[in-house]
Parts: sequence; C-alpha cells; structure tokens
Amino acid sequence: MRILITGAAGYIGSHAVAGLKTQGHEVHGLDDFRAGRPDAPEHLGVPFHALDAGDEEAVFALLRDESFDCVQHFAADVHVSASVREPIPTWENNVGTTTRLLSAVRRAGVPKFVFSSTCAVLGDSGTAFVREDDPICPMSPYGSTKAACERLLEETVSAAAMAGAPFSAAILRYFNVCGAGAGPFGEPIAGSGHDVRLSQVLLDVVQGRREHFTIFGTDYPTPDGTCVRDYIHVDDVVAAHAVVGDRLEPGQLCRYHVGTGKGTSVQEAVEAARQASNHPIPVILGDRRPGDADSVMADSSRLQALGWAPRHSSFASMFASALNHPGPQ
Ligand SMILES: NC(=O)c1ccc[n+]([C@@H]2O[C@H](COP(=O)([O-])OP(=O)(O)OC[C@H]3O[C@@H](n4cnc5c(N)ncnc54)[C@H](O)[C@@H]3O)[C@@H](O)[C@H]2O)c1
Repeated sequence: MRILITGAAGYIGSHAVAGLKTQGHEVHGLDDFRAGRPDAPEHLGVPFHALDAGDEEAVFALLRDESFDCVQHFAADVHVSASVREPIPTWENNVGTTTRLLSAVRRAGVPKFVFSSTCAVLGDSGTAFVREDDPICPMSPYGSTKAACERLLEETVSAAAMAGAPFSAAILRYFNVCGAGAGPFGEPIAGSGHDVRLSQVLLDVVQGRREHFTIFGTDYPTPDGTCVRDYIHVDDVVAAHAVVGDRLEPGQLCRYHVGTGKGTSVQEAVEAARQASNHPIPVILGDRRPGDADSVMADSSRLQALGWAPRHSSFASMFASALNHPGPQ
C-alpha cells in the first residue's frame, strides 16, 4: 500500500514510518516540525513533505499527485496540561487540522484513513477493562478534541456511504505508549511539562536528568495503593496500525483499543525500571493528582480478533527497550 503518515517526525509517527516501511509498504512522511525532530527526514529514508497537515490545498495537491491508498494521521498537539491551560491551540490543531486534512483526503479520493486517538477520551469509566463501546467522558480539552475527531470521522464515513463513495476509517485508541524499537530514535527526552509520560520520567532519573521520581498517591484502592495503568510498546501500536490498515473494508468505520490488558502499578513500574537499569531510582511519595483514575486497562479483544497480539507484555521489557535503544533520544 502507498501510505502517507502525518506527524512522521514525532515519537510514534517516526516508529510508524520505520515499521510500515519494513513491512513492504511505500511510505511517505509529512510533518511541519512544530514538535517533531528536525533530523527525521535524513534518518527515516522515505520521501518527506515539510507541510502543515492542515494546509488543505497543499495536502490536496500532494494526495492528488501521489495516489496514496491510505493516510495515517498521527499529527496532533499531545500535551494534556497545555490543553487545560490554553484549550484553543489544541482545538485548532487537533480538530481544525483534522477537518481540513479530511477534506483534502475526500476531495483526492483516498479510500482509507487511520486516526490516532487515545484512552483520554474515556475518562474515569469506573470499570477496569474498557471496551470500545463503553460511554466516553473526556476529562481534558485534549481528550475532547480527540473525541470530536472520532465523531467527525463517523459522520464522514456515513455521509460517504450515503453518497455511494467508498471511504473507510479506523480509530485506534492507544493506552500508555512507551518504549523504543523500529524507529531510528529512542524514546524522546521529557520536556518540563506536568504531563510527561511515566517512562520518560524514569528514564530521566536513570540517565541523570532528574534527581527522583514522584509517586502521586499511595492510597488508591489497588493492591499496592498506587495507580494501575495499561502500558503498550510503541512497536505494538505500529503493528496495530498495519493490521487495521490492511483489513479496513470499503465503507467501514472501526474503533479499536490498543493495550495489553495487563495492569502495572506505578510502584511496580518503578521496581521494573530499577531492575532493568541497576539504578536505585529515589522515590518521593506525593499527594494524589486531580483526575487520576485508580485503574484503567484496555479490553483489546476486538483488535486481537484481527490477528494482532502485543509482542511486549511487561513494562520491564518496554522500559529496557527504551533504555537500550542505540539511536539518539
Ligand atoms: N504518546 C502517547 O502516549 C499517545 C497516547 C495516545 C494517543 N497518542 C496520539 O498519537 C499521536 C502521536 O503522538 P506522539 O506521542 O508521537 O506525539 P509527538 O508530539 O511526538 O508527535 C506529533 C508530531 O506531529 C507533528 N505535528 C503536529 N501538528 C502538525 C501539523 N498541523 N502539521 C504537521 N505536523 C504536525 C509534530 O511536529 C510532531 O512531529 C498523536 O495524535 C497523539 O494524540 C499518543
């Protein structure tokens, strides 16, 4: 398949370029480098388009000239806390850009679209294993923008079907992505924001960029009192994109949860990182953070029914893959 990947200079997008290329797909990357790596084009070795994914006319011209079979849309503003402080830029980039990109995709007649969504659309569902049809309740502007894009895709697929024009879309809701693998780059170094990922903070401590790791809340109703999350390796996310892109049928709108279904507590993650790194990882016990649910795990049986299965199931192996990745972070 000929695939255009937006957000190709970012963490997951750069892994997707590498992973889908290895599987024999003809991949092009697109990014405007607002958050991605400026050196991505030279490391990824695929045709690269330095464009804003929301520049409808420029993207339309590219899609028309290159005849892609599928657009996989990873480009987005991804910081929850920034979206809470200032929602408008996140709405503009996530919903505005996706709307204009989708318009270009429809005008150019690209038949398939795969969208990066997130478990942040779900909120605190109150159930540990969350299914795709469970009610959603985004708890941040970031989550709201992704939920709005999901709705836009549903309505676009249904309008295309009514018009007799085959168009299909898949929505992949990732749980907590971590690790490094197929891509040329390791796990990105954390910024100074409050919503950096747990694995990034642990890497910071192990690699000397931070003094300690803070556990927020030790009195949750979980076996060791700390929050439990479902961690998924970045290469397994890319594998899900490959399977879903291949299997999409004309006119379909599918939604999948991408997680292992295995819970790891914050305390267990710290222990696993200590063992993988041989570093003591000093810990400070902090208060709960508002909005943190006690346990959130994916029910990914719908994705597994397509033949997908995660290759990494333990946080220890995911963390070790980031720690030992030979590429630049
Ligand atoms: N990292 C996670 O744990 C996680 C979890 C759930 C969902 N997601 C989703 O996965 C996708 C990729 O996330 P990531 O962690 O790789 O983020 P990232 O910030 O590393 O990558 C995003 C990339 O998109 C590019 N970009 C943003 N807006 C653009 C635009 N308008 N035009 C062109 N390029 C643009 C950025 O420059 C960057 O390279 C996002 O859609 C995100 O919401 C990520």
